[in-house]
Amino acid sequence: MVKQISIIDAKDHVDEEVRIGGWLTDKRSSGKISFLQLRDGSAFFQGVVVKSQVSEEVFQLAKDLKQESSMWITGVIHEDTRSHFGYEIEVSNIELVGESGDYPITPKEHGVEFLLDHRHLWLRSKRTFAIMQIRNEIIRATYEFYNQEGFIKMDPPILTGSAPEGTTELFHIEYFENDAYLTQSGQLYAEAGAMAFGKVFTFGPVFRAEKSKTRRHLTEFWMIEPEMAFMNQDQSLEVQEKYIAYLVQNVIDHCEYDLNLLDRDIDQLKKYTQLPYPRISYDKAIEMLQAADFDVKWGDDFGAPDETYLSDQFEQPVFIMNYPKAIKPFYMKPHPTRDDVYLCADLLAPEGYGEIIGGSERETDYDKLEAEIVKMGLDLKDYEWYLDLRRYGSVPHSGFGLGLERAITWICGIDHLREAIPFPRMINRIQP
Ligand code: 4AD
Ligand code: MG
Repeated sequence: MVKQISIIDAKDHVDEEVRIGGWLTDKRSSGKISFLQLRDGSAFFQGVVVKSQVSEEVFQLAKDLKQESSMWITGVIHEDTRSHFGYEIEVSNIELVGESGDYPITPKEHGVEFLLDHRHLWLRSKRTFAIMQIRNEIIRATYEFYNQEGFIKMDPPILTGSAPEGTTELFHIEYFENDAYLTQSGQLYAEAGAMAFGKVFTFGPVFRAEKSKTRRHLTEFWMIEPEMAFMNQDQSLEVQEKYIAYLVQNVIDHCEYDLNLLDRDIDQLKKYTQLPYPRISYDKAIEMLQAADFDVKWGDDFGAPDETYLSDQFEQPVFIMNYPKAIKPFYMKPHPTRDDVYLCADLLAPEGYGEIIGGSERETDYDKLEAEIVKMGLDLKDYEWYLDLRRYGSVPHSGFGLGLERAITWICGIDHLREAIPFPRMINRIQP
């Protein structure tokens, strides 16, 4: 019986006869030989069908195969020094499993809207394959990092009755007799978790009814939110930079093939494993923007062009610290010696990618937090449970949120968040 293997394991079966279940991505044939470009989900490689080595039927079948036909391929693995992958299969038999019609995504260039309309098929492309491998590695390394650091994963609810990040970007849903929202952030629940388990991280989908149509905004994205009891903002920044460097290092170590497929400069990525990352104040960032003739004044929130400019000024990710209160959420702790800014920071990714992390130390005082909630126009009764965390053994604590797709987009060096998630959700896209 011939052994069934995955393409990725070809290196362990050189000169052996094996069987592989896969799909055809492309092919080239002449009278005497056919080159089949094959994929099986684990990798891509080439099958060579030589007329004189196979039956008449198999050679004809190879010539007739359509793009995305599925099949069992039997053959012997050889090294192939000319290919990026390094191995190929010399085909002895092909059994057609599923025929394919006129596959809509051909090797020619397609517009991105067309590709997004066919995302369920576009997933099969080499480029998406590489991005999804890197996404998977970032997810894997995230669990590994936080487990090594003594955090436990805590799953916050997705159906919620409170709005941590402001009320304008909420998806409302009918919840029996009441209103509810899809969660914007698991943070408030993570804070409850930190008071129970010390160090927690959440990792789940969050939803923002963002009207922004930029390449950095999705309406559904995944966020990692660590929350740490007895940790101040400076300690939190150390966790953040260590975590980001860990992600980059693991992608370099485990996804070289994928980074190469995406033409990502690995030497560039290596710079981001050097710690510490630079830190500047919001005040300084405003000065830098003004010096470069941006139309901003102290108190303004940064737009995408501002962030792009700022992150372009540094070789590494940069923390922008202590933003004005008016542009950040109610739960942050004010700076001890300045009443106009919070103890908070955003991490901007280099190469113009902009914000990937937002985080802060949290307000611990019951009265101050209650006053902030009222000032925000939020309904106190929805936050009673959250205020309980300040009623019973309140402690200094800090946390942050990394947008998964922002991190992927930057590490992959791609242009748009929509390629960093299998099925992107944006203002004008809920299909497929
Ligand atoms: O800065 P944000 O809004 O912070 C929070 O939600 C806090 N509760 C986090 C915390 O302290 N626990 O969002 C955090 C990150 C951003 O830095 C960005 O990377 C990402 O989430 N993000 C988005 N990603 C994709 N599409 C959007 N519309 C995003 N909005 C924020
Ligand atoms: Mg933010």
